[in-house]
Amino acid sequence: MMQAPTLRDNDAGFGAVTRVVHWLTVLMLLAGFALVWSVGWLPAGPDRAQAVGLHRTVGLLVLSVTLLRVLWRLLSRRRPARIGSSRWRWAAGAVQAALWASLLVVPLLGWAYTNARGHSVLLLGIRLPSLIFKDQYFSRVAIASHEFMAYALLVLIGVHAAAALWHHVVLQDATLKRMWRG
Ligand code: HEM
Ligand code: HEM
Repeated sequence: MMQAPTLRDNDAGFGAVTRVVHWLTVLMLLAGFALVWSVGWLPAGPDRAQAVGLHRTVGLLVLSVTLLRVLWRLLSRRRPARIGSSRWRWAAGAVQAALWASLLVVPLLGWAYTNARGHSVLLLGIRLPSLIFKDQYFSRVAIASHEFMAYALLVLIGVHAAAALWHHVVLQDATLKRMWRG
């Protein structure tokens, strides 16, 4: 039987908030990677600085939305059970936990790097507190970790998306459908 769409998650499927925020995060990450990759192609100058600035804003939006999303998840007491054998359910849970952690750690490292370079971080005109003082050594550690963790996030996304498509195309179960249509 078709269930009426709900805002909150329930036993049968994901609610509208979880679904909208999931796909919004996908779009924001796409934009964040595209912007930072475009930096290498742009000549040094205002366009490049603007691409980095937009990359920071998009990354901070990912962080903000993820914090709200964690809160929303904690508030949603009911969630649909994962589909599949217990071993694969466990693997999906582990990948999702690593995705959650990366969505928080990657932007925080970018923020810390910017502070360690001696710049403050603005989100939509609001000056955010500094996570760290200006320090050249720390800035090198932070950017290396930011980059490494961002590529680790990309690998996790690949595994996660491949698993979702496997469910949809090969196993033909409702896993992808309920993240799309609830
Ligand atoms: C989930 C969010 C984010 C992702 C996936 C991400 C990803 C990346 C990647 C892949 C690079 C390295 C590009 C390369 O040279 O290969 C990078 C560089 C950088 N990121 Fe982020 N980032 C995120 C959030 C942030 C945030 C929140 C800030 C700052 C507030 C930030 C600031 C920077 C800066 C300043 C660079 C160096 C850009 C340059 O000068 O070339 N990032 N980011
Ligand atoms: C691009 C970055 C992505 C991130 C950061 C991400 C993150 C997540 C997270 C954290 C969850 C758990 C949601 C929750 O428990 O509330 C989730 C669930 C899910 N995602 Fe993604 N996802 C991404 C891309 C994708 C793509 C491209 C697909 C499809 C091809 C997809 C399909 C799904 C599905 C089907 C679920 C539900 C899994 C289940 O029932 O356990 N995701 N995703």
